[in-house]
Amino acid sequence: MNSFQFQNPTKLLFGPDKLNQLGQEISAYGKKVLLVYGGGSIKSTGLYDRILQQLQEIQAEVHELAGVEPNPRLTTVKKGIDLCRQHGVEFILAVGGGSVLDAAKAVAAGVPYDGDVWDFCIRKAQIQTALPLGTVLTLSATGSEMNGNSVITNWEENLKKSFGSIHAYPKFSILDPTLTYSVPANQTVNGIVDMMSHVFEQYFSPTTDTPLQERLCESILQTVIENGELALQNPNDYASRANIMLCGTYALNGGMISIGMQNDWATHMIEHEVSAIYDIAHAEGLSVLFPNWMKYVYQERIDRFVQYAVRVWQIDPNGKTDNEIALAGIQATRDYFTRIGAPSRLGDLNIDGKELDRMAKETVRFGPVGSFKPLNESDVRQILEMSL
Ligand code: NZQ
Ligand code: ZN
Repeated sequence: MNSFQFQNPTKLLFGPDKLNQLGQEISAYGKKVLLVYGGGSIKSTGLYDRILQQLQEIQAEVHELAGVEPNPRLTTVKKGIDLCRQHGVEFILAVGGGSVLDAAKAVAAGVPYDGDVWDFCIRKAQIQTALPLGTVLTLSATGSEMNGNSVITNWEENLKKSFGSIHAYPKFSILDPTLTYSVPANQTVNGIVDMMSHVFEQYFSPTTDTPLQERLCESILQTVIENGELALQNPNDYASRANIMLCGTYALNGGMISIGMQNDWATHMIEHEVSAIYDIAHAEGLSVLFPNWMKYVYQERIDRFVQYAVRVWQIDPNGKTDNEIALAGIQATRDYFTRIGAPSRLGDLNIDGKELDRMAKETVRFGPVGSFKPLNESDVRQILEMSL
């Protein structure tokens, strides 16, 4: 295990009664609020009215940034920054999935910054401060509700880049599993794949002697695998929606499950470049790419893949070589994704081989990606090719 420093400042409020505390939580930070939301799901579910009622109770002055896109755009973030500056906004409230939360974080960081907010995504500048931000999560997937990350798309340049900062952690996040009952099956699947992928990025690590962290990762994976299918069968089942919600939050909350471990994140970086050009859902790309990344790298540390196969997928190791066990675990991953309805080939997403060079090149813009097996441009290209 490596040395580490860990800090997660986000307060979680979890359960169906917690939305009632929203006004009270916000009033600690100010009354001029920017409400950030997506394409309208919060209106059709009635959540918008419940939020406004809470804001009225504390006599908040509310401004709105509506229509945040899945794969949120830089142009939308800039609109939000302008709104905040124009009205002297003191607090940002994001209500939605990862895209809404990420856009809100970029707005929060961009308001006090003199330069272009995109600078944070291309590592030209570091965030020094941000407006306070709170969230009401409506989709279990990214972990954005309890981490300092934000992923933004610069559509004009076909780039999708991220930043991470302690200043971008939400002050609080309200997690009410009943708010996810309305999430459609395909987005539920995306959430399952994304949170499993977050665990993979941390679990498949070159760091050794980390038994607690490995078991935490394995527990999350098993819990998602079981409860994901239950939530898909019965979208209004509180227990399974609550369990996957908690898993999503644990899977990516500043690295708690992989404390003292080197992380990988190569597959995420490859996926972001696919989404940047084709605007596909993040998890659709992950579902295609992850099993191929696994096949490409598993021999680097086959013991970890054997452990994964046996502990997570209960592959019977008797009579099998390590190679066979590891490959059976990878196949079980692919089969699960397919069973729940996630795509397995880029072709399923109408993506052909035309832009492979461009995606591979952009993935390694800041140098080789990943730590389990550091990947250069040619490695990335091969993984993309395997995924066609
Ligand atoms: O826009 P609305 O109308 O709200 O509809 C959304 C959207 O169309 C819908 N939705 C959300 N909650 C709903 C609902 N529909 C019905 N009922 C509800 N309760 O779901 C659609 C997808 O939403 P989105 O926010 O895009 O999904 P997700 O949470 O998967 O976020 C994906 C984004 O997060 C980034 C991804 O790259 C992508 O841009 N990521 C952010 C990370 C982070 N901040 O740590 C890490 C991830 O690896 C990921 O990269
Ligand atoms: Zn992800």
